[in-house]
Amino acid sequence: MSIELGVKRRPNVTVALPGHNQAATRPPGLAIAVVGCGYWGSKHVRVLSTLPEVARVIVVDPNPKVRDAIVAAFPGVEGASELRNALPSVQAVIVATPPRDHAEVALQALRAGRHVLIEKPITTTLAEARTLVAEAMQHGAVLMAGHTFEFNPAVRELRRRMDEGELGTIHYIHSARLNLGLYRSDVNVVWDLAPHDISIMNYLLRSTPTMVGAWGSSHACGDVKDLAYIRLEYGRRNVMGYAHVSWLDPRKVRRVTVVGSRKMAVYDDLAEERLRIFDCGVEGGQDGADGPAPFERPVSYRYGDIVSPHIHFEEPLALEDRHFVECIRKRATPSSDGNSGMAVVAVLEAIDRALATGRDLPVDALDAAVASPELSLTA
Ligand SMILES: NC(=O)c1ccc[n+]([C@@H]2O[C@H](COP(=O)([O-])OP(=O)(O)OC[C@H]3O[C@@H](n4cnc5c(N)ncnc54)[C@H](O)[C@@H]3O)[C@@H](O)[C@H]2O)c1
Repeated sequence: MSIELGVKRRPNVTVALPGHNQAATRPPGLAIAVVGCGYWGSKHVRVLSTLPEVARVIVVDPNPKVRDAIVAAFPGVEGASELRNALPSVQAVIVATPPRDHAEVALQALRAGRHVLIEKPITTTLAEARTLVAEAMQHGAVLMAGHTFEFNPAVRELRRRMDEGELGTIHYIHSARLNLGLYRSDVNVVWDLAPHDISIMNYLLRSTPTMVGAWGSSHACGDVKDLAYIRLEYGRRNVMGYAHVSWLDPRKVRRVTVVGSRKMAVYDDLAEERLRIFDCGVEGGQDGADGPAPFERPVSYRYGDIVSPHIHFEEPLALEDRHFVECIRKRATPSSDGNSGMAVVAVLEAIDRALATGRDLPVDALDAAVASPELSLTA
């Protein structure tokens, strides 16, 4: 089976098409389509072009200028204007279109039996996410969410230290994701930026929020929310998460603070030392056994070392794409699978409702494995 895309092909590459028998000593390389090749899709193309396990990359974008630029920049990469032209030639699809198109593109790929990685947020409704998860299960296809920060070595190191109890009992997590952002036409700042904060907190806490509260406002672009403050109640962990997201802030901030009873940690994605562990804290006075605590409690402050652990840095997107390829080859469940993508979308929908009503609201119940990702996450 072959397709004529009218663009350059990588020479001397044997392409393994779905259903082909190939007498090779090592598994044949994968053929992967990247659908949507703007800012982020082009990064996937760059990464895939370097992976030895990937023999063929086809970029699918309706914009011929975008296609031509990518094909010119990455020798051997091919172009197609529509996914249906590329589908017969690939085993997997990466969806990096604007979020409003994620569900339709992913469904087309899954129904053709292809493995799919979808950028965040995996869909713009929970109903769509449920459909994709069910479809992937029915076809035995790998479905992965592009939760890039879960592949960030600094975030992984932070979770390792939290798991080992170095920070003690976690009191709260605060995340800030601010800058003079790119206003998107299909989603507001919550759906654009908060998926990162929610996925990071879910990953760190190995849990999902049970209740959300949110306050937001619109300033620069009609009624599109460009600023939001979000409260995530991790009821099963008895931990609060707070996220501040904004497209309207003079300084770029990408910072997650974890405050524990023993130590505190700051993961700053823009800093040279991405992770810093603060051996500091406050010891409050104990409530008296005979009655309420006195108004002024004895409080002592502890100031210790600030440690910046050495972290071998690798590009998170490269780790993410390698994980996707590995899961396809081993038929394994990704650490950020369709369920974890769906869990993030469930929280985003609840935030929408909380913004509209001004009330704290429960997150829609998902099935048990999703509601308790500590049972299903593998990485
Ligand atoms: N994981 C991350 O850190 C990260 C960072 C940035 C963006 N993203 C996500 O990546 C996705 C793309 O964002 P972007 O900033 O690259 O957007 P973009 O606007 O730069 O690019 C989108 C591209 O998709 C193409 N497109 C639109 N509809 C299409 C369709 N139906 N089929 C094929 N191509 C189509 C457009 O022509 C454009 O080239 C979004 O879901 C975004 O949330 C993720």
